[in-house]
Amino acid sequence: MPVISAPHDFNEGRLFVDLEPIFGCPLYLKCEGFNFAGSIKLKAANEMVASAERDGILKPDSILVESSSGNLGVALSMIAASKGYEFLCVTDSRCNLSTRLLMEALGSRVHIVADPDENGGFLGTRVEYVRSLCASDSRYVWLSQYTNPGNWRAHYRTTAQQIARHFPSLDVLFIGTGTAGTLMGCARYFRQWHRPVRIVAVDSVGSVAFGGEPGRRMIPGLGMSMRPPLLDESYVNEVIRVEEAETIRTCHRMARRGFLFGGSTGTVVSGATEWLSRHDAQDITAVAIAPDLGERYLDTIYQTNWLQDLYGDQILDPDEMTATVRTEESAPREPDRRPQP
Ligand SMILES: Cc1ncc(COP(=O)(O)O)c(C=O)c1O
Repeated sequence: MPVISAPHDFNEGRLFVDLEPIFGCPLYLKCEGFNFAGSIKLKAANEMVASAERDGILKPDSILVESSSGNLGVALSMIAASKGYEFLCVTDSRCNLSTRLLMEALGSRVHIVADPDENGGFLGTRVEYVRSLCASDSRYVWLSQYTNPGNWRAHYRTTAQQIARHFPSLDVLFIGTGTAGTLMGCARYFRQWHRPVRIVAVDSVGSVAFGGEPGRRMIPGLGMSMRPPLLDESYVNEVIRVEEAETIRTCHRMARRGFLFGGSTGTVVSGATEWLSRHDAQDITAVAIAPDLGERYLDTIYQTNWLQDLYGDQILDPDEMTATVRTEESAPREPDRRPQP
């Protein structure tokens, strides 16, 4: 029984879900949402803060500032509250409301940028704002998840080893890409392992992380509107790009079986099952990484109006729907015509 006194001291790293009963292909999903920050970003936040403290960059009067689509912001909010630092998160309008409220509940300030950068994303605008803050006051400390080696090192030291321990005959690992911290930490670890592991990066259509055309992306976490500075493609065997509509269908398919995961998990699982369907998967040991859980996405991915406004009425078959209908007026609701179990 673990007993902790700091919230970042607990992180369940041993949980895998066997997705074969849902998708009919051999795939294990490593769940990274079971900690007090609710996501994989706790690992990167822990490592980056600890090394900034060791290097004397973080001092008692420092103000942490970071650009984040949400999850790193929550993790840093939690650590900052626990250690007594101030924290300002710079995010954008795609950040879920619940994620913003979480950061504020933990005592952080949140700044939301609204102007897109030249790639149609918000990253450039967010980073520019962080830079201007740091130039204006020397107490600001920017850990910079996009360039900080602590981001990938966290996964080299923890995520990759947890997978290796449970799956000594691992053949293929599917990893979603945002900053590429998870991808690079795991890829570097398995490059030195006792057997070759195929590293498959999963990105969303519209992201320019691996090149390609920028496009609209509404699901936070995965994808970048620039090339991730941490990315070294020589460690990546393959890249799969997933449409957001597929991400959503996959999330709902898992939710119908009781597993409520976040958007990027839908992307990674969708890419992985598509890859496995193209290969003779019978004897393959495959693992995918689920960065967070679904509760932060109840008003987006799991909300019918949001889905239909953005992706059209046909986004889900009626029997795939797990979302509830939010009516704008107080008019009585249509009876539920979905097939009942
Ligand atoms: C929900 C979610 N999925 C995936 C990622 C991508 O992870 P990484 O930044 O390590 O590439 C993030 C990063 O913020 C995330 O919040």
